[in-house]
Amino acid sequence: MPTRRALITAAPLLVAGCSRCASPYDEAVRSLWRLPDLSGGGFPAMALIGAATLAANGHNTQPWRFKVEPRVIEILPDPTRRTPVVDPDNHHLFVSLGCALETLLQAGLGYGWAGEPAVLSGGGVRVVFSSVPARPDALFQAIPHRASTRTPYDGTPVDAATLRRLEAAVGQSVGLRLVLDGDARAKLSDMIVAGNDAQLADPAFMRELVAWIRFDAGEALARRDGLFTAASGNLAAPRWLGQRLLPLVMTRRSEADRLRRVVASSPGLAIFTGPAETPEAWIAVGRAFTRFALTATAEGLKLAFMNQPVEDLSTRRRLAAWLGEPAKRPDLVVRFGRGPDLPRSLRRPSRDLLVS
Ligand SMILES: Cc1cc2nc3c(=O)[nH]c(=O)nc-3n(C[C@H](O)[C@H](O)[C@H](O)COP(=O)(O)O)c2cc1C
Repeated sequence: MPTRRALITAAPLLVAGCSRCASPYDEAVRSLWRLPDLSGGGFPAMALIGAATLAANGHNTQPWRFKVEPRVIEILPDPTRRTPVVDPDNHHLFVSLGCALETLLQAGLGYGWAGEPAVLSGGGVRVVFSSVPARPDALFQAIPHRASTRTPYDGTPVDAATLRRLEAAVGQSVGLRLVLDGDARAKLSDMIVAGNDAQLADPAFMRELVAWIRFDAGEALARRDGLFTAASGNLAAPRWLGQRLLPLVMTRRSEADRLRRVVASSPGLAIFTGPAETPEAWIAVGRAFTRFALTATAEGLKLAFMNQPVEDLSTRRRLAAWLGEPAKRPDLVVRFGRGPDLPRSLRRPSRDLLVS
């Protein structure tokens, strides 16, 4: 999606006030992005839900609700947080639920609770937990450090052993294609730009995206969702100004240049292809991506989605053919490499997400 990144990376447009507004935002980030110390006690349902909400999710709509029973947590889709233009068939919504599920399971293991997930007929997931020895491993520790980092990376290659660990993290049920070679990355760049062009030309896509942009810290703090411009290294502006400046700075040409630049700065991209086009398979894709992302984070790598070629239908067909699997649906495109830490995104409080 072109603009998500653009808005978020359209640095020059966003100017005023960040030093004044940074502090409350930073405080909210500090209290959110951590795994609480739990000593003893019973089943830590709220700590596990808090960890699950730190997962990646499309447009940061946080399209989930949670139901708690003794030693059970259900993750349920929240249809009020759909993004029907970019995600007409709820693909991203179920991938996002998969991301939350995998984060919940990894957090559970770290705290000493093994979860057994079962997909529900309505598309949610019921996880039954049992007590096990706590295993606070590298993936658990990485949960509060994983982020979408949309700046250029430093281009340094990722060594073969790390790449093997990333592949192993994905497992067998979801296909992973690593794109490392310069020519192949350039071809993928062309498809990212093509998908981006199509999205930029779609007024409905733009309206939906702008509705989820949080242009300044006040807006981001009040809503605790959406795409805060500063969380990608840019400054903030009032909505009225940001919305007006956006079309001036985000042209088709400047976007294409920027996309090619960030891809060229990334030593690798990863394309995930799930086993089927069903909510259950999309949840599996979200889980596989999250294991990949937590492994990458533990290795000191940064990641960012480049999903334009899977979101635009005609580019998706082109991508599937390029991958040599024209009958399959490529689900996610992600770039990775080494880059700076950026301000983080927010989440809504867990207590507001509970249903009975
Ligand atoms: C299914 C899915 C699709 C996404 N697509 C994009 C995308 O195309 N471009 C992008 O910059 N971020 C994309 N994201 C990342 C989300 O915007 C990001 O996870 C969210 O804003 C929360 O930020 P965080 O990942 O830093 O916690 C996607 C995430 C998911 C799970």
